[in-house]
Amino acid sequence: MDTETATSRTTLDPTLHAELIRRVLHAQAWRRLTLVHHGGQGAARESLRPVLIRQAVGWQVEQVQGGRTTVRNLETSAALAETLERLLAATGPREYHLQAADGDLHVRITRKGRLLLSRGQPRDAAETAPQPHDRVKKQPLSSFDSAALLRVLGIADGTGAIRASMRGKADQINAFLREVDAVLPARRPERPLEIVDCGSGLAYLTLSAYGYLKQGRGLAVHVRRIDRNPELVRKANELARDLDAAEDVTFIAADLATCSLEVRPDLLLSLHACDQATDAALARGVEWGAETMLVAPCCQHDLQRQIGDTGPMRALLRHGILRERQADLLADACRAQILRLLGYRVKIVEFVSPEATARNLLLRATAGLAKGQGPVLDEYLALRDFWKVQPALEQMLATRLAPWLGAPAAQEPQDAPLPAHGRPMRGRKGRRPKAEEPDLTKETP
Ligand SMILES: C[S@@+](CC[C@H](N)C(=O)[O-])C[C@H]1O[C@@H](n2cnc3c(N)ncnc32)[C@H](O)[C@@H]1O
Repeated sequence: MDTETATSRTTLDPTLHAELIRRVLHAQAWRRLTLVHHGGQGAARESLRPVLIRQAVGWQVEQVQGGRTTVRNLETSAALAETLERLLAATGPREYHLQAADGDLHVRITRKGRLLLSRGQPRDAAETAPQPHDRVKKQPLSSFDSAALLRVLGIADGTGAIRASMRGKADQINAFLREVDAVLPARRPERPLEIVDCGSGLAYLTLSAYGYLKQGRGLAVHVRRIDRNPELVRKANELARDLDAAEDVTFIAADLATCSLEVRPDLLLSLHACDQATDAALARGVEWGAETMLVAPCCQHDLQRQIGDTGPMRALLRHGILRERQADLLADACRAQILRLLGYRVKIVEFVSPEATARNLLLRATAGLAKGQGPVLDEYLALRDFWKVQPALEQMLATRLAPWLGAPAAQEPQDAPLPAHGRPMRGRKGRRPKAEEPDLTKETP
């Protein structure tokens, strides 16, 4: 039912003020209170809603102004009361919309100070309950209240619908998060999970993983993002601040080739870090002692340049696209073999459909095996030497691989023979480690 009365241009009718305070602070089943403020700069929207934060009911404040969305979480009733008072103290033309189980309330105060009021019918209480934090639905991004996250990242539009141009990105992130889910420890860790995202770009994956693990799975997490592009670092920092995540999501602006880390990561992520940045991410992951690495490689130019097109492979390599795919396969096979040699159990999977991205392979590497076991070294050398290539990851991990492949290239004589691609090869035959005898009690890859 709609009613219209005259009211002050600046203050809210005391009865309505009291009603909103009562229904938001003392009634349980409300879903959202939105204030739309019509000012000289256009409409600004601020909404308040209950969410589950670390298994307890909290509230999220979302502000949208000038096309920018920011989010802040409130964990105490005092903070909720303070924010509510601030919203209700707004002046000028504005609207309040309370969505609640016992019926919506819509209040509009016009430019001339008229009060327009409408009330809705009671609705099903289940619709207004905060989402349980651990209800993992099919899609990770819909298993928690991700509306603000998706809007801030620009994946969803103002109405919450996924933008057509971002559908592929959303699919990639959902698929990647399912992989994350599959490698999470069975038991809730006693300390925050340490996660590092390498080549994080605008932090779509970083912030989605943070939101999913924190809100969707109720885990304490600390995420470090590494990217060498300072402009992306700045923009991604802004997004983290907008999402009230800056405390738990920190940035390292550095090149993965030389980057150091002060913690041992439980989980290293990398989604489409360009070319050899994927190798650098894996190399750093090994050096930092990452427990698990989930790495979806991107374009691979290095081996494309190295593979010679003579001999029996000539017919294959004369076609650009086949050459590219062959180099990709070779690079990933070499990466997997090197990681196995260093004690990781490795699987390569298609993590998402090729419609979402043509770069849809993912290396899943988990530490814990004995190093240099079984036929891994021989298989690696046979593959590498057949193609006469020197994979970037081998060079980056030369010192660690020395027990099997010999001393790093820098220690070799300057006149070492040049392979077809013009760089010195080392350890062509490879050798068995002396110091590290195979431990037959451990599982082999
Ligand atoms: C294609 S973007 C991927 C961004 C992000 N992972 C995603 O999926 O949205 C690749 C990112 O890797 C970063 N990058 C490339 N080489 C790097 C290196 N050597 N060290 C650090 N970052 C690097 C680039 O700056 C870029 O932001």
